[in-house]
Amino acid sequence: MQLDVFTLIPDAFAWIRERRPVAAVLGAELDLRVFNYRDTTPLSARQVDDEPYGGGPGMVLRVDVVAAAFDAVYGGVPEHRVVALTPGGRQLHQELVEELAAEPALTLLSARFEGFDQRILDHLCSDEVSIGPYVLSGGEIPALAVVDAVARRLPGALTEGSGEVESFSAALGGGLEYPHYTRPAEFRGWSVPEVLLSGDHARIEGWRRERVRALT
Ligand code: ADE
Repeated sequence: MQLDVFTLIPDAFAWIRERRPVAAVLGAELDLRVFNYRDTTPLSARQVDDEPYGGGPGMVLRVDVVAAAFDAVYGGVPEHRVVALTPGGRQLHQELVEELAAEPALTLLSARFEGFDQRILDHLCSDEVSIGPYVLSGGEIPALAVVDAVARRLPGALTEGSGEVESFSAALGGGLEYPHYTRPAEFRGWSVPEVLLSGDHARIEGWRRERVRALT
C-alpha cells in the first residue's frame, strides 16, 4: 500500500516507522510517505493557514495550500481515497480499518486547531474519519492511529496468526478478545484460571469462547 500523510508536524510520524507493525511492513507491503504542507505552499513565508471568514478564533488550513500539495505530489487530485481526520467524521472502527487496509493507495490529511477550510473536505477528500467523539488539537494523533491500525492489517505485519483472533476481528464475530495471562501462575494470591494450566486444548478453546461471549 502507498500510504501518504499530509501534516504540519512531520516529526510526529518519525517514531512509528521504527516500531512494529509499521517497521515490519515498510519497504514491502507499505510505502509510508509524510509531506509537510509548508514545503509546497504557494504563499509566502511558508504560510498555510488563515483567519476564518466571518470572524472567530483560530486559524483554518487553506484550500489552495492543500491543492498545491496535491499538485506537487500527484499532479492533481488523487483518484484514490483521501481521508481527512476530523472530529465530526465517520467514527473509526475495525471494519473501516479493514476497508482502508485493502486500498492500494490511501492519503491522510491532518490539520491543526480549527481545522480545514470546508472546500478541502468538499472537493479534495473522499472521506472524513474521527477516532472518537472528542476534540484533539490536531489530526496528527488520529492519523497515527489510522497508520498503526492499517499497517497491522497488512501481510507480514504481525507474528503468524496473532492478528486473526484479536478484538473486533471477524474470527471473534466482531467482539472483544479473551483475556490473556502469563507467568507467574500465582502472584499476591492472584491466580491464573486453572483451565489455562490444564494443557487441555479443547477445554481452553471452550473457556476462551465463553469469555468472548461474556465480554461482548
Ligand atoms: N481532529 C481533532 N479531533 C479529532 C478526532 N477526534 N478525530 C479525528 N480528527 C480529529
